[in-house]
Amino acid sequence: MPRISYVNGHYVPHNHATIQIEDRGFLMADAVYEVIGCIHGHMADETGHLDRLERSLSELQIAMPVERETLRFLMREVMRRNRQKNAAIYIQVTRGVAKRDFKFPSPDTPPTLVLISYDFDFDGNAAVKNGMKVKTVPDIRWQRRDIKTVLLLPQSMAKQSAVNDGLDDSWMVDPEGFITECSASNAWIVTKDKKLVTRGVTSEILRGITRTAIEKLCKEMNLVLEERSFTPQEAYDAVEAFTSSATALITPVIEIDGHKIGDGKRGDICKNLYEEYRAYVEGLRGKQVSWEAGL
Ligand code: PDD
Repeated sequence: MPRISYVNGHYVPHNHATIQIEDRGFLMADAVYEVIGCIHGHMADETGHLDRLERSLSELQIAMPVERETLRFLMREVMRRNRQKNAAIYIQVTRGVAKRDFKFPSPDTPPTLVLISYDFDFDGNAAVKNGMKVKTVPDIRWQRRDIKTVLLLPQSMAKQSAVNDGLDDSWMVDPEGFITECSASNAWIVTKDKKLVTRGVTSEILRGITRTAIEKLCKEMNLVLEERSFTPQEAYDAVEAFTSSATALITPVIEIDGHKIGDGKRGDICKNLYEEYRAYVEGLRGKQVSWEAGL
């Protein structure tokens, strides 16, 4: 049975799935995306991810290619055809196909819709237990990081720079010297007095859906959350550090720029949050959060 992906109304064998060469996603990165985890058959924060997809599209004046209910169906159908229960579902919407031109094409240009589901072993993700080593790099991205576009070359370069140094990932630093986020996840630290710190929501970061779920969990777990900027030095001095995303979930960071964080192992707060997040996704902790559009 071949692996199946979805392109513009068709389920196609993955190796034969193509888009046109004048697709604006290809020519101009004129496209947005979402990654949604499906863990043991539970879609993690699906409402939040689809709310953010709609917001990213509306910020760029691209129409939703199909109704939300249809998209929900397509996600499940791609997974069903691939016989998956654990997957990262990738959804990309581009402005569609048009002659290369900097102005947007006519608004009736049909958007391109692609869905790919990747096998993802959430239970076997070694980094969740062993942690990651990161370095800091300058954040060289554009200024609308709140929109989840496929304009990912700066993040790809940040990640590769870490890999070239034998590390796992990079935390990006703004010109004022504060950490923005990790290449493809939000960055968190736990201070000596056990406060969780993550950067506030502005257009300087992507507001993670997992981050939003952690905000809710913090309230339930009586953890103090401070949404503010922090420096690499403050991160070196932290007792714990971690990143959050749809695929990393809550992954400890055990070393930053060669500085061991805490005792260099996954800390208790990170572990408890991870376990609570998993329980919440699997429906054991009440309703999942919905992401509020707007900044
Ligand atoms: N990345 N910040 C950035 C820059 C990201 O690319 C991501 C997600 C996040 C976390 O968002 P969320 O919790 O909604 O996944 C923060 C996805 C996983 C990716 O590009 O593969």
